[in-house]
This record gives sequence, structure tokens and C-alpha cells, in this order.
Amino acid sequence: PVVSVLELGGVKITKEDVVRNDPTNNVPDTIFSKLGMKLHRRDNHPLGILKNAIYEYFDANYSNKFNKLDDLCPIVSVKANFDDVLVPEDHVSRSYNDTYYVDPQTVLRCHTSAHQAELLRRGYTHFLVTGDVYRRDSIDSTHYPVFHQMEGFRVFAPDEWEASGMDATSFAAADLKTCLEGLARHLFGAVEMRWIDTYFPFTNPSFELEIYFQEKWLEVLGCGVTEQEILKRNGKPNNVAWAFGLGLERLAMVLFDIPDIRLFWSTDERFTSQFSKGKLGVKFKAFSKYPPCYKDVSFWINESFTENNLCEVVRGVAGDLVEEVQLIDNFTNKKGMTSHCYRIAYRSMERSLTDDEINDLQWKVREQVEKKLNVTMR
Ligand code: PHE
Repeated sequence: PVVSVLELGGVKITKEDVVRNDPTNNVPDTIFSKLGMKLHRRDNHPLGILKNAIYEYFDANYSNKFNKLDDLCPIVSVKANFDDVLVPEDHVSRSYNDTYYVDPQTVLRCHTSAHQAELLRRGYTHFLVTGDVYRRDSIDSTHYPVFHQMEGFRVFAPDEWEASGMDATSFAAADLKTCLEGLARHLFGAVEMRWIDTYFPFTNPSFELEIYFQEKWLEVLGCGVTEQEILKRNGKPNNVAWAFGLGLERLAMVLFDIPDIRLFWSTDERFTSQFSKGKLGVKFKAFSKYPPCYKDVSFWINESFTENNLCEVVRGVAGDLVEEVQLIDNFTNKKGMTSHCYRIAYRSMERSLTDDEINDLQWKVREQVEKKLNVTMR
């Protein structure tokens, strides 16, 4: 069904508001069709089940003090998405190659951190923000241009750390780690965990939490003590705060044994019927393992070529029938021309594809790659 008017966080949005054929806009139809799906608000969907399990942890441990927001509009200003959280002017995430721009001042949020400053200004001190986020990226079983995040944020008043004898930053960092270790145990049971130092523009110090699960270290979330500048600019100059952001798909894939990120979008009853409200960690039973079909495409690239652009073209043609796009050969000849060969894996989660169907897709991919990316086919 073609939806012409969407309701996003109380805002009415039409396709013409989001998708335009001009160089300041890079939102394709395939992405527009994901806006307003709100998978995280479905109680019987793995993402909704996980969201609710995290809510449960916070409600139980903080006597319902955290405000929960899961319907904020995913179309945000560049200011909210980047400037307000101190993302440097030259940071790659601001590029048209990494982010979907509606116009030069407006993006599809690439993280739920886009709402931190606004919510602080509105007076919130404890909040959880869940939503769909959008990133241009390559294609494989764990990457999809739309996924879901939950942001957590807690503000402390001076008396809270003064009583502890610690400095404000150490106090917030310690509280953050205790909170998130408890959350990880709530979701995964008794697991081994470790903290890795990292960098985010909006927190300092910044950490990643990893858990040892199914014989691997798995990155669970990013977090840290909020940069003082963010609090100062948004009416909380005498406070400290912590923040975290976690990717719901990444955790749900592990907790529910979901092998491919495209499945979250499946409307196949053999997928949807396996999950129900409140049942965290029910193991998904694969209803099919249809074989993948591999097709290669080779071309001479030009200066503006990027893998993200290629993946967008392939998805524009094949949609969720494309499972992976992988660079398998790369060389530069004596004249300085560079050739790339990509292997495209086609596979449906729901049925077997016919040879005719795949050949047809591959021809359309070749045609569109040549036309839209201005490369020379080999
Ligand atoms: N916004 C970060 C990301 O998308 C996650 C994060 C949120 C990190 C809050 C620190 C604090 O990767």
C-alpha cells in the first residue's frame, strides 16, 4: 500500500516533504517507505519486546523515574543531530555519503542522541528515547539502512555527588557503569563483561560495554559522562549527567537468535508468529534456508564512487532480496584506472528465487549502476 501521509511524532509528513529529486536530497523511495513503520512500538515484535524488557529494568530499579519517549519525529534538524551534541564540522558522519539529508538543514536522525539537547531544554532529567535511526551503509547480514536505538540519559544534582566524596565526573561514571552492568545482567543473565575506552563527541570519558556471549565478545552499547558544554547550553550548568545509546537489532539478533537483520522487517507469519509480548529471548526457528545466489558485477570506478552509493542502487532494485554486497577484487591498471568487482548475494528469507527472477534483477542492477553511478561496466 502506498502511504501518502504519515504521522510522525505528531507531525504530518507527505512523501513530497521527504523525497525530492535535487542534489541537496538523498532520500530514496525505499527509505521513505520505512518511515512511520515504528517496529519498536509493536509489543509482539522482537524490537518491542526488547524495548519493554529494558523499560522493566529501569522502572524496577529507579521507581519509574525515567520518562519514556518512543514517538519522537525521526526527521530532525542538522543542529539537533550534530551541532547540539558537539559533532565536529568535519566529522564523516555529517557527509551525504553517511547520512540521509532531506535538505541542507534537515536529516533523518542517525542516532537517538539527536534528542538529548531538546529534552534537556524541556526539563527532562531522566529519560529513555527509543526510535528508528537512518544511516547510509554497506550491505550484509547485520547492516540495514534503518535500525533502532535506545538512548538513556540521567542528570544529577550537586548534592548527589557531594555526599559521595567523589568528584562529579567519577561519580557519574561509576553510577553509569553500575546501571548498565545491571541492565546487561537483566537481559543476558550472568555474563562476563568488560569496559573499553572509546571516543564520542558528546561524552567524556566515553566507554563501550562488551559482554562475553556465545564464545565471542559482543559490543553492547556506547556511553559516557555527558560533555559539560551540552548541559551548560541547555539550562543545566551546575549538574553532571551520563548518557548511553544501544542498538536494539544487534541485541535482539543475539537474544532471539535472529540470523539476518532483514528479518525484522518481515511480514511473513512464519516470522511474526514466533514472538509474543513479554517473552524475551525465545529462540527463533528458521523456517527456511533458501540457497543464496551469487552474481558478480565489475566496472571502472570514478572519483565520486562510494560503496554506500552502490549499495543504495542495489537495494533500490532488489530491495530486501539482496543479502550482501562484497568487494572481491580491486586493482589499478597502468593508466591509473581502478576496477572494482563486487559479488552480490541474492536470497529471500521467505521463498526460493527463480533463475529468471535473479537474472532480471542482475540486469537491472547493471543498468542502474551504469546510469546512476556513471561508471564504465566491464
Ligand atoms: N550516539 C552514539 C551512537 O550512535 C551512542 C551513544 C549515545 C554514545 C550516548 C554515548 C552516549 O553510536
